[in-house]
Amino acid sequence: MIFPSHLMVSVLLTTFLITIQVLATPLAIPGETNVDSTSTKHFTGKFHVQPPTELDANVYHRLENGTSVVISATDEPMANYVDCDTTDGSPKVWDILEGARRLEELGARLCIQTNPGGSHCTTSMSVGTAQIAVCGKFWHYVPCDTLGWAARQIVAVCRWKDYAGGKYIWNGDFKAIVY
Ligand SMILES: *[C@@H]1O[C@H](CO)[C@@H](O)[C@H](O)[C@H]1NC(C)=O
Repeated sequence: MIFPSHLMVSVLLTTFLITIQVLATPLAIPGETNVDSTSTKHFTGKFHVQPPTELDANVYHRLENGTSVVISATDEPMANYVDCDTTDGSPKVWDILEGARRLEELGARLCIQTNPGGSHCTTSMSVGTAQIAVCGKFWHYVPCDTLGWAARQIVAVCRWKDYAGGKYIWNGDFKAIVY
């Protein structure tokens, strides 16, 4: 048989437990909807980047007769995005930055995608743990200093601990990847 005092204790306990439950629900942090902050093992997110006006941010297609045409479509929704995917298996940031520096030293030399099949990626620079590659359509390219700049953007927005990894997306046909 249930005594009134037992009932009272039971009601109080239930109320207490419900209150604890409500307080324990994690609060959503506004403005972090595109960042996966729930995992401690990696960092993901997509960020729009505005290339500086002094940079040649075009993507080109090298034609067989040795001329180049601009193929960038900067009005594309996915133009100039950094897509981060950083884990503790990603390259170390200092290796990426050294790779970026070496690419920038190459200046206007062509960092060209010469792989007709498979991954459709060509590694343009390799330093320690870091590979910097261009991926996309065959014989498309960016100037190497532009690729270096793109690698720096991946470090700037994708850094997690001492690592960074991800893609710089110029458009649907061409991207850089740091892996
Ligand atoms: C190179 O080829 C493209 C496409 O075939 C053509 O439009 C262009 O005029 C050519 N340029 C030269 C210098 O021959």
